[in-house]
Amino acid sequence: MKAKVTAAAEMKIGEIDRRVFGSFIEHLGRAVYGGIYEPGHPLADEEGFRTDVIKLINELGVPVVRYPGGNFVSGYNWEDGVGPVENRPARLELAWGVTEPNKFGTNEFMRWCKKAKTSPMMAVNLGTRGPEEARQLVEYCNHPSGTKYADLRRAHGYNDPWGVKLWCLGNEMDGHWQMGAKTAYEYGRIANEAAKLMKWVDPSIETVLSGSSNRHMKSFGDWEATALDLAYDNVDYVSLHQYYDNKTGDTASFLAKSMELDDFIYSIICTCDFVKAKKRTKKQINLSFDEWNVWYHSNDDYVEKWSTAPHQLEDIYNFEDALVVACMLITLLRHADRVKIACLAQLVNVIAPIMTENGGRAFRQTIFYPFKLMSKYARGAALKPIVDSPKYDCKEFTDVPYLETILTYDKENDEVVFFGVNRSMDENILLDVKLLGFEGYKAVSFESMDGHGVLEENGFDCEKVTMHSNPVPQTDGDVTTADLKPLSFNVIRFRK
Ligand code: AHR
Repeated sequence: MKAKVTAAAEMKIGEIDRRVFGSFIEHLGRAVYGGIYEPGHPLADEEGFRTDVIKLINELGVPVVRYPGGNFVSGYNWEDGVGPVENRPARLELAWGVTEPNKFGTNEFMRWCKKAKTSPMMAVNLGTRGPEEARQLVEYCNHPSGTKYADLRRAHGYNDPWGVKLWCLGNEMDGHWQMGAKTAYEYGRIANEAAKLMKWVDPSIETVLSGSSNRHMKSFGDWEATALDLAYDNVDYVSLHQYYDNKTGDTASFLAKSMELDDFIYSIICTCDFVKAKKRTKKQINLSFDEWNVWYHSNDDYVEKWSTAPHQLEDIYNFEDALVVACMLITLLRHADRVKIACLAQLVNVIAPIMTENGGRAFRQTIFYPFKLMSKYARGAALKPIVDSPKYDCKEFTDVPYLETILTYDKENDEVVFFGVNRSMDENILLDVKLLGFEGYKAVSFESMDGHGVLEENGFDCEKVTMHSNPVPQTDGDVTTADLKPLSFNVIRFRK
């Protein structure tokens, strides 16, 4: 089949905020213990951080990491995780039914962020705790000295404040599974008061209001409108969470899930702007999509109650999952004007692009590759593509374009990049990419992920689902013609 995409230098959606390539580490399963932190591992450094994992995270390109949860944060006492390790208590961790040893806490995370060349996005507990403990944690992290919590940090060996800029106000507070779940009104009030005090401690921080746990929640929409109405002045972003699955084995519908994602994002933008209009304010609330991924392969796995760092939510991803992740990323970039932060959930071992063995190896899952390529090349501005693509109908959606795409323009480096997924299971797309206002640009590289069965996976012994290079497509004037294989993720770079 044939398709055509046109992009123009002047038709920008918005600048891409690097933080959309964020990720997430929760105290859950082996994300921390056995993931980023494993003293005694042959490749652990003197602080117990796995250097093989840090290397892979650097390769992936992750500028911000959300921590420490997730559902975990709603029962977390941050004080348990600071100070001499031998004095820290082990706790019953109710969110995931395990024992939390507290060997790794706030300061270890900050140290790890520095080594991993990323930055922290902290979450505060608004489930079992409230504004008081939240403001104390901001003081502990960000105040220089001369007060109780700043001096406590110094007594723990960290003289300089960590300067944490981004703060999530709780997590999924609308969910019945959440410790201290709340109504939108209860949450909006407590989030507002917490954010207010946190910003009084450090006016330079930005805060993220917890939105609905997903768009299928009964209170979806009302939740955001009510909570935002109550907390508008003290928050900067509203969060979105969404995971997709293919439990029914319906690949055509699974690949089209990003259409639902697009609608979800649009609904939240509208809700933010509805509250903005109601308040007659100039302040705009942007979006933090701080949990997104495919998640379902591990849902029925057995986890021993009250064990420590069990194998939990260790999804092994396949090729079609990687294509869905690519479509999700493309969709996030298509909203670059409003989605300023996004976190692939999660980063290591728990529904993650990187898997490790305790004491052993690590490997890159299939979803690692689209994320890596997009984090590396999607720089500058997202361009609004005019897409002329054949469409299909499936069980869950109608009019699904076979081609899912975004283009980016990095003015500083004179580079335009096309990212596209061919959703067709059996047909190539003969694609024309027309670039307007980019005189002298031509295709210089073409990488793709294709030729795999939808269920093909990577493992410790084989990373076969990866990207590969193709012959550079021909550019004739402002049109470049490329052949996109069935079920493929494609990256074409253009330079002057
Ligand atoms: O990422 C796993 C869990 O998914 C998080 O703890 C929670 O916020 C969400 O429901």
